[in-house]
Amino acid sequence: MNILLTGGMGYIGSHTALLLANAGHQVHIYDNLCNSNIGTLDRVQKICSKSIGFSEGDVRDTEKLTKVLRDAKIEAVIHLAGLKAVGESSQKPIEYYANNVQGSISLIQAMQMVGIKTLVFSSSATVYGDPVYLPYDEDHPTSPTNPYGRNKLQVEEILRDLSVSDKEWQIACLRYFNPVGAHESGLIGEDPNGIPNNLMPVIGQVVNGKLPLLNIFGDDYDTPDGTGKRDYIHVMDLAEGHLAALIWLQGNPGCHTFNLGSGDSYSVLDLLHHFEKASGQKIPYQIVERRPGDLPEYYAKADKAEKFLGWKTKRKLSDICNSSWLWIKNSRKS
Ligand code: NAD
Ligand code: UD1
Repeated sequence: MNILLTGGMGYIGSHTALLLANAGHQVHIYDNLCNSNIGTLDRVQKICSKSIGFSEGDVRDTEKLTKVLRDAKIEAVIHLAGLKAVGESSQKPIEYYANNVQGSISLIQAMQMVGIKTLVFSSSATVYGDPVYLPYDEDHPTSPTNPYGRNKLQVEEILRDLSVSDKEWQIACLRYFNPVGAHESGLIGEDPNGIPNNLMPVIGQVVNGKLPLLNIFGDDYDTPDGTGKRDYIHVMDLAEGHLAALIWLQGNPGCHTFNLGSGDSYSVLDLLHHFEKASGQKIPYQIVERRPGDLPEYYAKADKAEKFLGWKTKRKLSDICNSSWLWIKNSRKS
């Protein structure tokens, strides 16, 4: 299949591009590089020894996107492009709505222009908001607590309306839990610009001496060790989820929602100790105040993806930490 990945130069997109290319698909990336680096393309091509197309552009540039879709003879799109920092989304809500919601509308319009009706959308578990019950299943009420989460939910609603208006659309909204880890080569991984907020990139910066220690946000939650628990999912498992969704969508019109998570949850200290074991490094940390907006625990009910897509996570927390450590070591050299 000829597949376009918007935002394909980023963390999840680069791993997905690699997996799709290895599976024999023709991959074309469309990215404005606002949170990624062109050097990633060479590294992905080196790992898979395949050629991957690239066009630099903004998803809001409907005309340019239409031309790329047409020229590359695209048959399906995975839409990953977007801004993703939860805190920043509260400080710059309009920038987030313009990029994430307007950008998605522009993509849909470009796809309509060319007649492409197969789409996988990067959504997030953040659409659920405060848990009414756990694990979150796909029917759990949605009540996002920040502009980023509302962007994701609005795009899902737009896609649902679209699929009702035109029955030929085949759409999967994938609600990711906490993506972590790196490709086993250690050549690509998460490489955020600026100061990271998420746990694994912060650990990476502590190991690389860019930060003195890890601040653990609270140890007084109602969890076994008092620190927050999350459903961490290896980025290559996540990449496989995209491929499974693309295959399943053929012949399954409509707009479908799937959780992509492991169904397990681990605490901050669990992750830290697994990382220390993988790396042989001691990670200095201190317990600080809870971070506003953080939940004690959440994790996925991932049965729907297993039942329909035939997909479930294969990799363990040790695989996550081993691959992250390899990537962190390699990025220290460059
Ligand atoms: P990322 O920032 O590494 O990748 C996003 C890519 O999109 C970047 O390469 C960036 O340059 C590009 N981009 C942003 N705005 C663009 C625009 N207007 N036009 C073209 N390109 C644009 O992020 P990621 O972690 O790989 O996330 C990918 C998608 O998955 C995002 O939509 C994100 O919201 C979603 N998601 C991520 C997580 C996570 O924890 N990483 C969790 C849930 C959902
Ligand atoms: C955050 C986003 C969520 C997004 C997810 C993707 C918020 C409120 N939510 O989730 O929308 O989908 O990232 O991965 O930002 N922690 C520390 N110290 C740190 C960093 C994190 O103790 O320096 C703890 C947090 O309190 C939490 C856990 O580590 O318990 C995971 O945090 P993080 O990686 O930021 O992810 P989430 O907050 O779950």
